[in-house]
Order: sequence, then C-alpha cells, then structure tokens
Amino acid sequence: MSRPARIRLAAAGVILAGFAALALQVGAGRSTTAQAGAAADPALIDRGRYLAEAADCAACHTAPGGGPIYAGGRAFKLPFGTMYSTNITADAATGIGGWSDDDFVNALQHGVGKGGRHLYPSMPYTSYTGMSRSDALAIKAYLFSLRPLHAPARPSTFPFPFNQRWGMAVWNALFLKDRRFEADPALTAQQNRGAYLATALGHCGECHTPRNVAFGLERGRQFAGAVLQGWRAYNITADKAYGVGAWSDRQLADYLRTGHGDGRGSASGPMGEAVAYSLRHLSPEDSSALIAYLRTVKPQPGAAGTEANLAPPAAVAATAWAPAADEKSPGLGKHIFEGACSSCHQWNGQGQQNAYAALIGAQSVNDPAGLNVVQTVLHGVKLPLGDGAAFMPAFGSGYSDAEVAAVANYVIGRFGGKAGKVTPAAVYKAREAG
Ligand code: HEC
Ligand code: HEC
Ligand code: HEC
Repeated sequence: MSRPARIRLAAAGVILAGFAALALQVGAGRSTTAQAGAAADPALIDRGRYLAEAADCAACHTAPGGGPIYAGGRAFKLPFGTMYSTNITADAATGIGGWSDDDFVNALQHGVGKGGRHLYPSMPYTSYTGMSRSDALAIKAYLFSLRPLHAPARPSTFPFPFNQRWGMAVWNALFLKDRRFEADPALTAQQNRGAYLATALGHCGECHTPRNVAFGLERGRQFAGAVLQGWRAYNITADKAYGVGAWSDRQLADYLRTGHGDGRGSASGPMGEAVAYSLRHLSPEDSSALIAYLRTVKPQPGAAGTEANLAPPAAVAATAWAPAADEKSPGLGKHIFEGACSSCHQWNGQGQQNAYAALIGAQSVNDPAGLNVVQTVLHGVKLPLGDGAAFMPAFGSGYSDAEVAAVANYVIGRFGGKAGKVTPAAVYKAREAG
C-alpha cells in the first residue's frame, strides 16, 4: 500500500474510533435472569459482581428490551454503519469461554481482544485501563460463574476502510493513556478510592468530559460537561455556579443513589440508567468516597446563562394548582403544559406524582438549549429507581416538532427562569440522535 493510502486509512481509523467512542450509551430494560453456573471461590465471585456493577458492564453488553444479561447485541449507531456489543458470557463458541486471564485483562486495559483484535473504543477501555489486574480478574471470575449463553456476535456493517481495525492502534497511540490507577499523594485515602470508582470503574468521564476534534478526551477539562446521543452530560466539577460544587453532600448522595436529589432534579436518560444499573449498588462507603472525590475535581467554567436558578419567578408566584393570576404568555407551550404536564409537575414545579417529578433546580430546565428537556419529552422516562418507579410517558409520537419545542421553551421559562432557545429543527435533530 502506498504511504498516502496508508495515511488515509489511518485517518479513517481515527475518525471511526472517535465516533465509536461517542456512541457510548447505556442500556435499558435489561433482564437480571443470569443464573449461577459452576461455582469457584464465592468471595472472589461476589467481589467480581460488585465490581462489574460499579463498572456497569451490563449496560452495553445486554440488548435493550430485556435481552439476556451479558449476551451482547446492543446496537451502536455510527454515521457509517452499526456495530454491536459482544457476548461476554463464558460460552466457548460465541462468548469469552476460551479466553485466558491475560486475554481478558488485555481487553480491559489495552482494548485488544483475543488474538490481537483491536476493539473499538465504544468499549470504554480508555477508562478501564486504570483498573487493577486483580479487579479485572475478579470480574472475569464473576462472568465465568454465570450460565454461558449461546449468542453469536452480530458483525458490524462498517464498509471499507472503516472496518480496518488496525486504525485503532493509531488512535490508541494518540489517546490511550495506558496506565493503571495510581493514588494521588495529595488526596486522602477516601478521595483516592472515589477517584478509582469515578475513573477506572464508573467511567464518568466517558460521558462528562468533552472530546477533542479526534474524539479523544480533552486533557485538563475533566468532567466539564459534554453531549452524547442528543443528551447533555452536565459539568460535574466542583465549580459552584456551573458544576456540583454548591450541591450538599445529601443532594449528591441521593442523586447518585436514588436518581433524585431534593431541589436538584432527577436523573433521566443515560444517567438514569447509570444510577439504576450501577451507582445505586455502590456501598454507602463507596458512594461517600465518590462524592469526596467529586469535591476535589478542578472547577471548570460553564456557558454564562446556564446557572441553576433555584427561585424562578413564574414558579415562585404560582400555587401547585394554578399559575399566578396576572401571568402573561398564553400560547402553545402553556396550552400543552396545562393539558399534558401540569398534573404531574404542577405549576410551581414541586412535583405532584412524587418527588422525582420536581423540576425546580434541575439542570435540564436551566439549559436554554433544552437538550435533555427535549429528549425527556420525546422519549419519556421509565426507570426502576428508588422505591417507586420514576415514570413519565413519552410524547414524541403525539406531538409535532413545533409542539415539543414550544412546551420545552415553556418549561425552561417557567422553571429555569430563562428564555428557551429550542427550535423545531433542533427537535427534529434530537429525534434522530436519541
Ligand atoms: C459503553 C459501553 C460498554 C461498556 C460499559 C462495556 N463494554 Fe465491553 N464492549 C463494548 C462494545 C461495543 C464491544 C465490542 C467492541 C468491538 O467489537 O470492537 C465490547 C467488547 C468487549 C470485549 C471483547 C469481546 C470480544 O469477543 O472481542 C470484552 C471482553 C468486554 N467488552 C468486556 C467488558 C467488561 C468486563 C466490561 C465492564 C468492566 C465492559 N465490557 C463494559 C461496549 C461496552
Ligand atoms: C452513559 C453516560 C454517563 C455516565 C457513564 C455518567 N453520567 Fe452522569 N450524567 C449523564 C447525563 C446525560 C446527565 C444528565 C441527566 C439528566 O438531565 O437527567 C448526567 C447527570 C449527572 C449529574 C447531575 C448534574 C446536574 O447538574 O444535574 C451528576 C451529579 C452526575 N451525572 C454524576 C456522574 C458520576 C459521578 C458518574 C460516574 C460515576 C457519572 N455521572 C457517569 C451521563 C452519564
Ligand atoms: C405521569 C407524570 C408525568 C407527566 C404527565 C409528565 N412528566 Fe415530566 N417527569 C415526570 C417524572 C416522574 C420525572 C422524573 C423522571 C426521572 O428523571 O427520574 C419527569 C421529568 C421531567 C423533566 C426533567 C428531566 C431531567 O432529566 O431533568 C422534564 C424537563 C419534564 N419531565 C418535562 C415534562 C413535560 C414538558 C411534560 C408534558 C409534555 C411532562 N414532563 C409530563 C413525570 C411526568
């Protein structure tokens, strides 16, 4: 192959890898019917189960809609085709039953599968690279204790040159920091434990850290906020105005453990799933450690005008059952809110159905671009969170792009005290992305 052709191929690989990294999305509706198989060292298996939950392996390795857990088959749509996650049960023919310890560790730490096959970074090895060998092997022991499932991998539909996996080697050379987690001597033992949970296991940065033009995680901008699949993963640095620096420990703990922090809104979409399937299983000590670490993350500024308004005037002036008598702005947004939303969310945004429906203080209604408001309205929310199921119906098929934009801008105005900038064109785009 000529040198320019090679360079073009390498570039294609880098671009593909980037999009693959962007395709991160956690799974919905997975089943929990995995059964215990051949038992080895129960303590090790138990530790492995805990770590697999903390690292949320099931998120991507389970097909949505109740597919068998860890059997793969979740689709990742990229601009040039679709790829699928693989079967990571111990089935010898179609899973990883034939993998050695080294094969498994290599996949997690270096993104290289059995036989030297480069993985696409939709598998977040750029985070798992920090995982210790012993934690990786505990996860393997757990996976191998489950019933092996026969589920052949679906081939990706990438055309040439995007199906050239060696392009990943180039991308890795640029963006994979191949290093195990090392405790930072400037942090306490608790903060370091939190750092390990946030980076090597929980891979928060894969969604919350912005990416550069080649889709590598931006250095120096850890947790500053990013967009994925039509959702905004907010700034979760210690910044008091734009991050979570002004959240109380209680608000953070509740948000991460139950999906709702009083006065700070609820987790939906990819974050709701991360809470439901991973973070709520953390031990109280680990949850506290994670929060202790978030407090140390260097504050990053956000876009002016996206600060959470905790006392939006229209909501403050309203009662639960009616807006203020002198409130202006009839119009389409208000009309839809009155008919379709107010029964659960109430005019004062305190939430009638249950605490999850409270909107005051939620970052989603304080983002004038309204990405997450639009996604929530289009797709609804249905997550097994906390005691009751947090449920909101999907309105995507019932409302036109113009109607969704109108009601989105209305809730941004009412509960965020800001002028919403959602356009029908943006709603159309959000339908495609989500
Ligand atoms: C954000 C999504 C995501 C998460 C989370 C995730 N994976 Fe993956 N994983 C993938 C995708 C997609 C592939 C297929 C990559 C490819 O074909 O290049 C994959 C591939 C793999 C492979 C290679 C399998 C093979 O047959 O080549 C292994 C092993 C694996 N993952 C294990 C894990 C483990 C263990 C965890 C949790 C610690 C995990 N994954 C978490 C998306 C994910
Ligand atoms: C799969 C992508 C993904 C992963 C992984 C993820 N998040 Fe999130 N996170 C999001 C999205 C999207 C939102 C916005 C949710 C919403 O609006 O309902 C969010 C919201 C949050 C919020 C609320 C911020 C606010 O201002 O309202 C916190 C806190 C948070 N995430 C912490 C974490 C931590 C800590 C981790 C790692 C342990 C993590 N997230 C992992 C996607 C993710
Ligand atoms: C059946 C009750 C119900 C109805 C009707 C309803 N919602 Fe919700 N909504 C909820 C609940 C519960 C949540 C919290 C879900 C979660 O994230 O856990 C929520 C969350 C939200 C959020 C916050 C999403 C986030 O991630 O921060 C917005 C914005 C929202 N709803 C807007 C609307 C709009 C606009 C309508 C009308 C078109 C509507 N809702 C109708 C119950 C409802």
